[in-house]
Amino acid sequence: MPSSQSATLRVSDQQPTDSEVADEVLGSLAETPPRLPSKYFYDEHGSKLFDQICELPEYYLTRTELAIMQADASQMAQHIGPRAALVEFGSGSSLKTRLLLEALEDPVACVLIDISAEHLFAVTEELASDFPHIEFIPVAGDFTQPLDLPEPSRPARRRVVYFPGSTIGNFARGDAAGLLNSMRRIAGADGGALVGVDRVKDTAVLEAAYNDAAGVTAQFNRNILVHLNRVLNGDFNPEAFEHRAPWVSEASRIEMHLVSKKDQCVNLAGERLSFPKDQVVLTEFSHKYTVEAFAELAAESGLGVARVWSDPAEYFSVLYLEPA
Ligand code: AVJ
Repeated sequence: MPSSQSATLRVSDQQPTDSEVADEVLGSLAETPPRLPSKYFYDEHGSKLFDQICELPEYYLTRTELAIMQADASQMAQHIGPRAALVEFGSGSSLKTRLLLEALEDPVACVLIDISAEHLFAVTEELASDFPHIEFIPVAGDFTQPLDLPEPSRPARRRVVYFPGSTIGNFARGDAAGLLNSMRRIAGADGGALVGVDRVKDTAVLEAAYNDAAGVTAQFNRNILVHLNRVLNGDFNPEAFEHRAPWVSEASRIEMHLVSKKDQCVNLAGERLSFPKDQVVLTEFSHKYTVEAFAELAAESGLGVARVWSDPAEYFSVLYLEPA
């Protein structure tokens, strides 16, 4: 991995090694029911498929959050104040980040953390050339693990973690609380966190968003197998698994499943794994929250909800959290 140093672009590579990935994936598949960590959706192709999902008529999340940012980024910026350093968890398509950076008064730096190094470096370069006065610091790594965050060259007045996209919804309750804890530590006593949260709503709307008519989400779901085949020397046949995405109301989440269409054996990272017909492999949780439920979760991590911005239909909210 190249490492470079310049005024506006510093690279820090803290990606997990192949054997760490193997341990994590084999461990997840050994659980009951077997699971695959959702972050492995996002290789280069997976990131492209996700960008396509964001354009789907059924997938309201991205366009709704974008509309909230368009309407309210200036209020968010006022709340945050001048000379902030942003720390973004997951670098996404950068559209929302751009809206926030444009609205902020004299932001000093933007640390971007992403597991997909290629995607991260491409996004960082584009941002750095469009915002020449901001120092961009890409960190290739896993934001669910402790990371050394580089200090910006110019001192920041406060640090604000930006976690858009309802990605917090992909974490089980305990893991989400852990992430909120690490946001609070990064933000420190006078920082904060700006978090995008998908709201509980009509089941038909939720299920359509994850079972699109064009089948892009099904492709995205199966691509996790393609990705793991490559990094863990595996031979999953993605077509031998069916995409399902039910709303599980007791857990307030959409679950993405890959269901084995037949009895089959798969080689992965030197192990031989068997998947009986109808075996469900959990690939993703996408939790949906009421503002009250999210506030309760944040409170467990010592964060309070200071502001809430939502679209008129209240499909989605952006919450500003501060140490309680
Ligand atoms: C961007 C990770 C929040 O859970 O809605 C989209 C990922 N999965 N379609 C979500 C996703 C299936 C998405 N997140």
